[in-house]
Amino acid sequence: MSNKEILGVIGNPIKHTLSPVIHNNLSELMDINAVYTAFNVEEDLGAAIGSAYSLGIKGLNITVPYKQEVMQYCTEIDELAEKIGAVNTLVRTDSGFKGYNTDMPGLARALKSKGVSLEGRKIIVLGAGGAARAVCTMLVSEGADTIYLVNRTIAKAEAISSQYENIVPVAQADYKSIPDDRYIFIQCTSLGLKEGDGLLIDDDEFYKMADYGYDLIYNPAVTPFISKLNSLGIQTDNGLSMLLYQGIIAYEYWFNVSVSDEISGKVYEKLQQALEDGTSLNQNVVLIGYMGSGKTTVGKAIAEKYGMVFLDTDDLIVKTTGKTIPEIFEESGEQGFRDIETELLRKISSLGFLNTVISTGGGIVLRAENAELLKKIGKVNYLKATPETTFERVKGDTNRPLLKAEDEEGLRARITQMISDRMSKYEAAADVTIVTDDGDLNRVIKDIMNM
Ligand code: ATR
Repeated sequence: MSNKEILGVIGNPIKHTLSPVIHNNLSELMDINAVYTAFNVEEDLGAAIGSAYSLGIKGLNITVPYKQEVMQYCTEIDELAEKIGAVNTLVRTDSGFKGYNTDMPGLARALKSKGVSLEGRKIIVLGAGGAARAVCTMLVSEGADTIYLVNRTIAKAEAISSQYENIVPVAQADYKSIPDDRYIFIQCTSLGLKEGDGLLIDDDEFYKMADYGYDLIYNPAVTPFISKLNSLGIQTDNGLSMLLYQGIIAYEYWFNVSVSDEISGKVYEKLQQALEDGTSLNQNVVLIGYMGSGKTTVGKAIAEKYGMVFLDTDDLIVKTTGKTIPEIFEESGEQGFRDIETELLRKISSLGFLNTVISTGGGIVLRAENAELLKKIGKVNYLKATPETTFERVKGDTNRPLLKAEDEEGLRARITQMISDRMSKYEAAADVTIVTDDGDLNRVIKDIMNM
């Protein structure tokens, strides 16, 4: 059984998330045995969080649209996250998940890494939505001086400023009321996300008051805001460094480590590359079949080759129940074991795993409900081998309790009988059948992944 920790990000949609790039590179560079994937939760966030906990997941990131909703499912919430009113990181504790906000500390660390200090500085924040509100909270706690909060809808700026002494709400049209001075500009509107978007304020004199500008948007990398400041010779950065550091701080919570500047820089490069290349997670691969059909070998090889997560239902059952499979059979019988399997598949399904290879116990399809759940989880591949091949593959294996204390002829007969009993169930449960007798791993992988 592997002790690989499972991590991931919950959101909807989430297929194109960059977070796995951050965390999987961190694990590699820091030599930590963990794998990070994404969970597409379309409904019932509470059930998904419950499943994540009982599946033993060590840490989660939470993104759009769940950063507020998730707070009710935390057993504890960090003070800063409470103040900001949003949680983007869950850390496993003995009683449940504790919620943190690493977005704002991430922005603060991104600015520090660029040599930008906020203490005693005057700031102009553009926008007064959820992101701007969180940024204001961070700026105040970092000791910023006066903050001018410029927004199209003045009431939203006023709602934020009413909570702080040093925030001045400014209507978009009144921007000239801001006294001439040196400011750090932070762009928190959604302007720039869409092609053809313009500037909130189109006046060079306004932007000339900036000695540094940060845009929370990172895709596109160059927004009208960034481009305007650059044309005036003003240093800027985009939100990619905030994305990086919110991930790094989450990772530091999960593993109680501290990530060096050198490693942060390396991960940043990977992130930039991934953003240029585009990312998209694979659909899940489910492997079913009799023992010895190659589920583990093939599953691990696919996970390795395609950067996917490998799960084994038997391993997960051992891990989550704390019992061995023979113990479960002894205590609860086969029905009891199948109940545990069904419950496990329900949890995997409710958590919305993406990019995952799931290898299953040989008898999992004996229950119709399990076959249905597997089809919901991903593409089901039946790895098929003849009784003779199976016999050759498993005969020397002393780790399979079912095969112990049996002479060769008895074993051969039993395998033949079981495969013939189960064949129709495997075939009915599968989307595709892949014959593995030739033992050609690359060909089998190709057949599975090229479908
Ligand atoms: P977020 O959570 O990312 O902050 P939001 O709460 O929807 O998202 O806020 C979006 C911000 O972009 C707001 O400040 C919004 O201005 P309003 O409060 O007036 O809506 C600003 N914004 C979006 N589109 C805009 C546009 N076309 N012109 C000016 N401001 C715009």
